[in-house]
Amino acid sequence: MIVNTKKLFEHAYGKYAIGAYNINNLEQAMGLFRGNLDSQAPFIIQISKGARSYTHKKMLEGLIKSAVDVFPDAIFAVHIDHGDENTCYDAIESGFYSSVMIDASHEDFESNIATTKRVVEAAHAKGLVVEAELGMLGGVEEHISVQEADAKLTDPEQANEFVERTGVDSLAVAIGTSHGAYKFSGSQALRMDVLAEIQKKLPGFPLVMHGSSSVPQEEVARINAAGGNLKGAKGVDAEQFKHAASLGVTKVNIDTDGRLVWTRVHREYFLEHPENFDLRPPGKVFMGEYAKFIAGKNEKLGSAGQLESVRKLLTS
Ligand code: G3H
Ligand code: 13P
Ligand code: ZN
Repeated sequence: MIVNTKKLFEHAYGKYAIGAYNINNLEQAMGLFRGNLDSQAPFIIQISKGARSYTHKKMLEGLIKSAVDVFPDAIFAVHIDHGDENTCYDAIESGFYSSVMIDASHEDFESNIATTKRVVEAAHAKGLVVEAELGMLGGVEEHISVQEADAKLTDPEQANEFVERTGVDSLAVAIGTSHGAYKFSGSQALRMDVLAEIQKKLPGFPLVMHGSSSVPQEEVARINAAGGNLKGAKGVDAEQFKHAASLGVTKVNIDTDGRLVWTRVHREYFLEHPENFDLRPPGKVFMGEYAKFIAGKNEKLGSAGQLESVRKLLTS
């Protein structure tokens, strides 16, 4: 069942975070649904601009529509990840999505507000929920001073003003994470102190953590042992998710970790079966491994086991 993202946030706020997983293809979709059902978790499927153009947006949407029939017990929202204005309008018009993210975080404060506000008006008119971003994620280089690094984080005062003036429904905050497999250069770490300040300014308001892959060292070692070359890859400590949830984080974005599972499975499979050229055997292994990965992640997020309680909220 595809549901409204805001409803999922209402259920989760302060107690657990919902996993927001990026998908691009059929095998990821299968593993994702199985893993969430195995762990009895509500979840968010998110689709980036790149994912929409990897095959065709309608292929990906069709796949998700089919999943509603194939996995009738699943409860999930469908979200546009890092949308620009046109992508958001296209998704709003399509009538398929639960929510969109307008990412104008690269624009200055006033312009980010103006862009976000336009998307909020269009989305709310059609019943969609909107996420926006304030602050700058990632790209924190080792040579950058502490003051410079801090300036990229979300300013709690600005966060309050941003939410009030845009009418946005949730806010992606920059608290030290970055996208991809190389996070936290030098002494950088997750800034729970900044998150706590933001929550004080926006009590009860859903916050979103991007760049939240854990980049498990065991996964990296297996990829490298099977011919990969990922040097110095590291990620977010998944043990911190529940603390983040208690400070208002209701959505945690994870993409890179899933790509690492895919890379490990396929590298190992073809190393062990050099004579093979059939795509289905490693595809089968991947679906099973991805499902296991999703179920494990939901345990860390606290979303595992919440499915029936969410169903009751939605049907009461
Ligand atoms: O934050 C970005 C997501 O990981 C999506 O990545 O734009 O390569 O699909 P992508
Ligand atoms: P990761 O690269 O850490 O998986 O972050 C994904 C993300 O933030 C998608 O919006
Ligand atoms: Zn992101």
